[in-house]
Amino acid sequence: MNSLKCADKKISAVVVTGGSSGIGESFIASISNLEDNPAICNLSRTEPAKKWLDRGVRHISCDLSIGQEIERVVPEIQAFLAEHADGGVLLINNSGFGGYGEFHTQSLRRDLSMIDLNVRACVHLAGLLMPTLIERGGGIINVASTACFQPTPLMATYGATKSFLHSWSLALSDELKDKGVRVLCVCPGPTATNFFRAAGFKESPISVGTTADKVVDESMRAFFKDKWIVTTGFWNKMGVGISSKLPKVLVTKLSGGTLRKIRQP
Ligand SMILES: NC(=O)c1ccc[n+]([C@@H]2O[C@H](COP(=O)([O-])OP(=O)(O)OC[C@H]3O[C@@H](n4cnc5c(N)ncnc54)[C@H](OP(=O)(O)O)[C@@H]3O)[C@@H](O)[C@H]2O)c1
Repeated sequence: MNSLKCADKKISAVVVTGGSSGIGESFIASISNLEDNPAICNLSRTEPAKKWLDRGVRHISCDLSIGQEIERVVPEIQAFLAEHADGGVLLINNSGFGGYGEFHTQSLRRDLSMIDLNVRACVHLAGLLMPTLIERGGGIINVASTACFQPTPLMATYGATKSFLHSWSLALSDELKDKGVRVLCVCPGPTATNFFRAAGFKESPISVGTTADKVVDESMRAFFKDKWIVTTGFWNKMGVGISSKLPKVLVTKLSGGTLRKIRQP
């Protein structure tokens, strides 16, 4: 059990988005088990499991796809950070959802909402917390996806949101490296969570190679090692390594071929 430190500074307050299920809930579980046990505040539309609330996790209900909703909860987040001011701050941008189908057949409103949640909310929260992060030290963990490394036909908007997160996250890592704020981009492959149900499938349409707990274990180890990016899982690392060597148009066609084999939701 490690304690949660950033540049040798103890983290006293963690703000996580999407802790009501999947990878976000595993982040809550993993951080709750750390030695120093920092205070945790979750932002999502529904509450995390009661066991986490009983263990002191603060929940702030918020639809992060709506900018005004984020502004509405800022005072509550600031109050939480002020109550736990004896160390640094960690922001985990994890909330997100995907969709499946050709762009022209999809709901435009849903795709715009995906951009608002997967991209805009991450920038919004990081921007609002940045003065505190720089003043107190700490970090940001951005949950992207292996979808960030190539265009993803039939998941065009989703893949593009994750490419944004990947590029933005690495740039922030560099900008903030001497300011006591470390930034990690997490790139999981298919993981057993509610993700596929939220994307419209009854059950996962592809084999999910891993669990949320394993993704978070590897992510936390990467954060402790001060890494800027982690692709979780051996086969995902292999896949990303190979596809990075291929021309982009070929990779797009290969990725389209694979994604077309998935049966429609
Ligand atoms: N599972 C995978 O295969 C996989 C692979 C690569 C990357 N990822 C990424 O991992 C992250 C977590 O997803 P997951 O797999 O854990 O899926 P999940 O179980 O569906 O969890 C998604 C989380 O996002 C929250 N969320 C959704 N819409 C929201 C909104 N409008 N406002 C606030 N929170 C919202 C949900 O909470 P509420 O519904 O309570 O709001 C939920 O806690 C996502 O960014 C996803 O893109 C997942």
